[in-house]
Amino acid sequence: MQRPTAAATTATSSTLRLLQHPQIIDGLRIILIGASLETTRRLCSWIYYKLQGIFYKTVRIDSAPILDWMDCWLATQKSWKEAHDVTAVATQGDKDTVEFSASSGVDRWIYHNNKWLRFVRDKRDISAAFNGPTLKEESLTVSLLGFSAEPVKRVIREAKELYKSKNMYSTEVYLGDQYGNWNKLTTKSHRPWNSFFLPGDTKQYLLNDARDFLNSEDWFAHRGIPFRRGYLLYGIPGTGKSTSVHALASELNLPIYILLLSLNLDDSGLADMMRFLPSKCVLLIEDIDVAFKSRSENGNDQNGSESSVTLSGLLNAIDGLAAPEGRLLFATTNHVEHLDPALIRPGRIDVRIEFKAIEYSQARDLFSNFHPGATTLAEEFADVASKYKVTPSQLQAYLLLQKESPESAVKNMSSWLTDEKVSLKA
Ligand SMILES: Nc1ncnc2c1ncn2[C@@H]1O[C@H](COP(=O)(O)OP(=O)(O)O)[C@@H](O)[C@H]1O
Ligand SMILES: [Mg+2]
Repeated sequence: MQRPTAAATTATSSTLRLLQHPQIIDGLRIILIGASLETTRRLCSWIYYKLQGIFYKTVRIDSAPILDWMDCWLATQKSWKEAHDVTAVATQGDKDTVEFSASSGVDRWIYHNNKWLRFVRDKRDISAAFNGPTLKEESLTVSLLGFSAEPVKRVIREAKELYKSKNMYSTEVYLGDQYGNWNKLTTKSHRPWNSFFLPGDTKQYLLNDARDFLNSEDWFAHRGIPFRRGYLLYGIPGTGKSTSVHALASELNLPIYILLLSLNLDDSGLADMMRFLPSKCVLLIEDIDVAFKSRSENGNDQNGSESSVTLSGLLNAIDGLAAPEGRLLFATTNHVEHLDPALIRPGRIDVRIEFKAIEYSQARDLFSNFHPGATTLAEEFADVASKYKVTPSQLQAYLLLQKESPESAVKNMSSWLTDEKVSLKA
C-alpha cells in the first residue's frame, strides 16, 4: 500500500482545519439551509401544480357565440363592471344603451351560486409576420376550485339565456382591406330566418346542406377530402342573394368575412387574408365576376381601382394548399356567364342556386310578412306579382309605400307595375 505523501497529508489537515473554522461552518450552514428551502419551494410548487390539475378546473372560451354570451353576463357582474380598465360597448338589442366591458388582462374572482370563479379576459393581436396582417384573438378563461367544471357550464347556460332575453344576437361582419387585414366592419343584428322567401324548398335545402357540412368534419377528415364547401348564388339583383347569406350566417351563428375583389389587393395579400380566416365562418365574395371581367377588357378595373388579384391567385385562395378549412364560401354574381369555368367547377363551388324574378309563393309570403292574416289579399297579390319580372326587392319597396292598407296595395299593384315599366314574364 502506498503511503500518502507529506504534501497530501498537509493539504487534508489544512482543509479539515478550515472546515472547523466557525465562519466557514456558518457559510456552509447558510448554503445548506438555502438549498433545502429551494428544494421545499420546488416541491411545494410541484405539489401545488399537481393539486391544481386535480382540484382547479380551467375552461378557456375563445369563440363566438359563447364569448359574446359571457361578455353579456359579465357586464351584469358588479366586480367585473368595477374593473379599472374598461371598454365602452353599445349593446346590440337596445342601441341606446352603452355598457362597460372589461378590457384585456382583467382578472377577477366572482362569487356566484356558492362558488368562487375566476375570470381572466385576454385580447391580443396575432400576426404571422412583422407588419403582416393581424387578427384579434379574444379569450376568456374561467377557473374554479373543485373536481368538476359543471359550475362553469351552468354560468354559460345562464349567460346564453341572458343574451337571448336581451335580444343581443348579432352577426359579426369583417371586411378585408388591401393590406390583407380583416377589420371588424360592424355587428349586424341577426336576420331572422323567416324574414326572407325563396321558391320551393330552396331555403331548407340551403340550411340543411350548410348544417350537414359543418357537422361532417370527421367524415371529410377520414376520406382525406378538404373540409370546405362552396356556394354560388347567381341571378338578377334584388332577389335575395346577400340577404340569404346574412340570414344563413345568423341562423348558424357564424361570422361573415367579406372579400371585395375590387379592392387594391394582390395575390399575396389575398393569401394572407385566407390564412387568418377562423376555422368556422362564412367567406363572402360579392360580385365575384367583377375583378376579372373588367380587367380582361381594359387591363384595369372599371372603377379605376387597381386590384391585381389574378385568377390563379383566387383559385389558390379558394382551394390551394394554404386555403382555410371549415369555411363556407359564398360567391354572388349578377353575371354567371362572365365567370371562368375553372372558378365554379365542383370542389370549388359545390352548390349553385339561381335567384330569379319573384314566384307565387314568395310574393304571397312577402305580402303576409307585411300584413299577417290577410290571406286572401296575399293570394290576389301573388297572382298578379308572379306574372311579372319583378324582384322581391322591388316588391318590398312597393309594400313599404303601401304599408298602411293591404287592400290598396293589391288594388294599385297593376298600375304601379306599369309605371315602373316592369315587363311580363315570357
Ligand atoms: N327573397 C327575398 N325575400 C325577402 N326579401 C328580399 C328577398 N330578396 C330581396 N329582398 C329584400 O331586398 C333587398 C335587397 O336584397 P339583396 O339580398 O341585397 O339582393 P341581391 O343580393 O340579390 O342583390 C333586401 O332589403 C331584402 O330584404
Ligand atoms: Mg347582393
